[in-house]
Formats: sequence, structure tokens, C-alpha cells
Amino acid sequence: MELIHRNIGIIGTGAMGRGIAQIAAQAGSRVMLQDVQAGAAEKAREAICAQWDKLVEKGRLEAAAANDHKARLGVANSLSELSNCDLVVEAIVERLDAKKALFAELETIVSAHTILASNTSSLSITAIAASLKHPERLAGYHFFNPVPLMKVVEVIAGLKTSAAVCDALSQYARQMGHTPVLAQDTPGFIVNHAGRGYGTEALRIVSEGITDFATIDRILREQAGFKLGPFELMDLTALDVSHPVMESIYHQYYQEDRYRPSVITAQRLAGGMLGRKTGEGFYRYEDGVSHVEAEAAAPVVENMPPVWVSPRAARRSELLQLLKDLGAKIETGQSPSMEALTLVAPLGFDITTVAVVERLDPARTVGIDMLIDDAATKRRVLATNPATRTDMRDAAHALFARDGKSVSVIRDSGGFVTQRVVATIVNIASDICQQGICSPKDLETAVTLGLGYPMGPLAMGDRYGPTNVLEVLFNMQTVYGDQRYRPSPWLRRRGAIGLSLTHQES
Ligand code: NAI
Repeated sequence: MELIHRNIGIIGTGAMGRGIAQIAAQAGSRVMLQDVQAGAAEKAREAICAQWDKLVEKGRLEAAAANDHKARLGVANSLSELSNCDLVVEAIVERLDAKKALFAELETIVSAHTILASNTSSLSITAIAASLKHPERLAGYHFFNPVPLMKVVEVIAGLKTSAAVCDALSQYARQMGHTPVLAQDTPGFIVNHAGRGYGTEALRIVSEGITDFATIDRILREQAGFKLGPFELMDLTALDVSHPVMESIYHQYYQEDRYRPSVITAQRLAGGMLGRKTGEGFYRYEDGVSHVEAEAAAPVVENMPPVWVSPRAARRSELLQLLKDLGAKIETGQSPSMEALTLVAPLGFDITTVAVVERLDPARTVGIDMLIDDAATKRRVLATNPATRTDMRDAAHALFARDGKSVSVIRDSGGFVTQRVVATIVNIASDICQQGICSPKDLETAVTLGLGYPMGPLAMGDRYGPTNVLEVLFNMQTVYGDQRYRPSPWLRRRGAIGLSLTHQES
């Protein structure tokens, strides 16, 4: 198919401008780089050429192709040299006044058909386009860092953006080897909005004293299958980037509870503990390697008590089979004997409440998170309540570690770590669907490619059971009396039928 844009201008040649220029030239477009800082565009051109040389060295690019790419990459010393561009992508400083002034000037230079695109990650496309003569030709084109590797781009329609402009940008994204997703102009667009659940809920769990950063990271990696724990991720992104994003989305949504940032990251940002790049964040880094304290070994328990499982436990038959496989002595009476370790497996409720409601002895009651099928996890998570005896806690820990699987023991809370984080992610994703910010399909694509989650949030809800996720949220809402856990109407409506078989209803 013929290339949709032949002549591209890239304004602002920092990390993002360079990445976009690289993939545009690789697609076959002639690319002109422009930067307000003297010499910056030329430096960027050299850096991009060096990237191609490296690819040639590694045998991933033909030398002749690299030379063709280089021949298509030029430098513009002034904006007026971009007059023949049919697409101009802006990746300058993230300031509304600067972007508005730039596009106003560009409008006097380029032709009537030129498409204008902004790589902004947090400003409103509608606001950037507001004072243009032709706001319909401006759209958001939000790439992710590093652009050549992050193969998704959000195409964002402002209030006046024409559908044809979004179509052209989507088609061009495909020609550059990227997957476009279409978003309405709303705070955080898709990826930064959908990403709110992971870090903010993990921070809440820490702020409630339920467990520490490293344990949460281990649980979400090894029980829920995320590549990086939320605190490892924040260390990688750096708090001077991620905390302002949390604040910005919270305020842009007029203090919506679901996005409330944490004082933990505010304080760490103020203290300069930004993450990897400053050598210290949630973890300490030496030569780029993080120092994580080793986990304590599972306790050794000589006299293992018999185990009784609550009839209301989630995945009760799987839990009983697991106990059998672990060689536990299982009690089958209607209530536990005086010696029995009492296991409960609630969704969303805290262990204390369950013990009280089910009239169990809290001193012998331990909870286990059964939201996810045990066979699909590499870690089990137990929770005590404030009255749980240490011998009962240790017995449960030793028992569930018998087959060599890792075990974390956390303090009581409404919902376990994975339940809370998964339910929050699914709920926020459902709310994105409720608001019509994008199609459910684009949501799944954007999150999988943009955030690297093991699956899209709607697929995640389906995998663990929409009614289970709803139960976690309803119960959390009751335990905390907090509106941030109120389920999105979209999730409630789809709870019974599944979240990703969605496309019939618009
Ligand atoms: P950067 O600071 O690396 O580069 C910005 C470049 O723009 C600099 O070279 C600067 O000299 C130039 N510049 C500033 N004002 C200019 C003007 N009026 N005209 C021409 N050039 C100008 O910034 P980065 O990280 O590349 O970000 C650029 C844009 O992309 C921002 O809007 C940012 O929010 C957005 N973005 C950044 C991402 C990231 O991970 N860094 C991800 C997605 C979007």
C-alpha cells in the first residue's frame, strides 16, 4: 500500500521526537527534525543514525536499508522549512502555552491539508487545538517510550478533530509497524488512565500497614503474573514522572476517589528518592542492581494441627484438594475441633469479619487468597487477623510451603493484595468502557501493549470471574465504607455475562 504520509516534520527532538522520527523514516517517509535549541536537531539526527548503525552491527538491519533511512532524515533550521510536510508531529516541552503557540505559528506555514499531531501525554487535545483556525486537523498521537519498542500509539480525537484525520493517523501508525488505538480526549487517555489501579491500590495497601513494598511486588509478580511489581515499576519510571501523573489525573477528574494519589509517593518525591535513576527509590540500587532483602524461610512446625475449611471458602473444592495434596489432616465436621487450624477464603472481606460472622475462633483463623486458581500461581498468600495465634499462623505457613511453593503472610485487610489490585484494575477499566473513552477491544490492546500486563483488564476480569471481582468490590465497599470501591455500572451490568464478549453493545 502506498505510504500515507511522505513528508513528515518532527518538532522537539528529545527522547520521544527521536523515536517517532526513527520509525517514520524506517517506514519510508522523508523526515525533517526541528528543535528550538541550537544544534539539538542535528544531535538527534546523529543519534538516530547511530541506532541504525547498531542494528546493522547486530545483523538486524541491512546496511543498504540503513543508508536509505539516513538519506531520508534531515534537519530543519526553522519552522518555515516544514512548509511542504503533510504531517507534523509535535514532541516539545509538556506545556499548553508552548504547544498552542507552536501550532498557531505552524498553521501560517503549512498547507491547508497538513495534519497536525501532538504527542502530549497529559494535556487536552481540545485545549491545544482551541485557538487554531482549523482545529479539525489536529489530533493527539501519543507514543510510548522507547518508541521503536513500544508498539502502540493512542490516536486521540479532540472535540473538533475530524474522523478522517484519526483514520489517516491510524493507517500511518500501521505503516510504521505500530498498533493504533482510538481514544476520546479525556484525562490520561487510555493507557495512563487504565494504569491508575495498579500503583495507587498497592500504595494504599502499604499505607494501611498490611505488608511491605517487597512483599506486594512478590505477590503481584508470582501470584497475579505481572512482569514487574508496582514498586519496581515506580522505581523504573521514577517518581518525578509517575507521581505528577497520579496527581494530574486525580485533579483532572475533579478529585475522583478512584484515582486518589498517595502521600507516600509525595514524600518520597520531596525527599529525592525517585527510583533507579537516583540510586534509591523503594529499593536501593548499586550499579543498576537492586538490593532486595531475602524472604524469611518458612517456619518448621513439628506438630501440624488438623485443618478445617469454612463451607463458604472461595474455590473450596480446589482448596480441599490442595490440602490433601499437601498431606494435611482434614476435619470434615460441621465446625472445627478445639485443635483445628481454621481456614477461610473470603473475597473482599477481612479475616476478622469472617471469623465473627461465621462464629469461628479468631485465634485459630487464617485466611488464604483463592481468587486465582492455585495451579496458575507461583505463590500463595495467607492473612492473619489481629487475634491469630503465632502457632496457628506458622502452621498454616509451613503447611502451604510443603510442596516448595513460596508463601507470603500478610496482615488482615478487606481483600488480599491480588484481590484488591485486580478488582481495582478491572473496575477502572470497566469505567473507561462506561465513559465510552475507547472500545473494549482497543482498551485491551492498549493495556497489553502499553502497560505490559499479562492480559487485558477485561480478560483479567473474565479469567478470575466477573462475579468474584464484583464480590471483592462490594465487600471492600462495605468494609471500608469507601466510594473508591464502588463498582462501575458497566461492570455490574456485565458481571453475569462476562466482560470481553462485549462488542454487541455500544
Ligand atoms: P524531552 O525534554 O526529551 O525533549 C523535548 C525537546 O523539545 C527538547 O529537545 C527541547 O529543546 C525541545 N523543545 C522545547 N520547546 C520547543 C519548541 N517550542 N519548539 C521546538 N522544540 C522545542 O521531552 P520528551 O520526553 O521527548 O517529551 C516530549 C513530549 O512527549 C512531551 O509532550 C511529553 O509529555 C510527551 N511524552 C513523553 C513521554 C516520555 O516517556 N518521555 C511518553 C509520551 C509522551
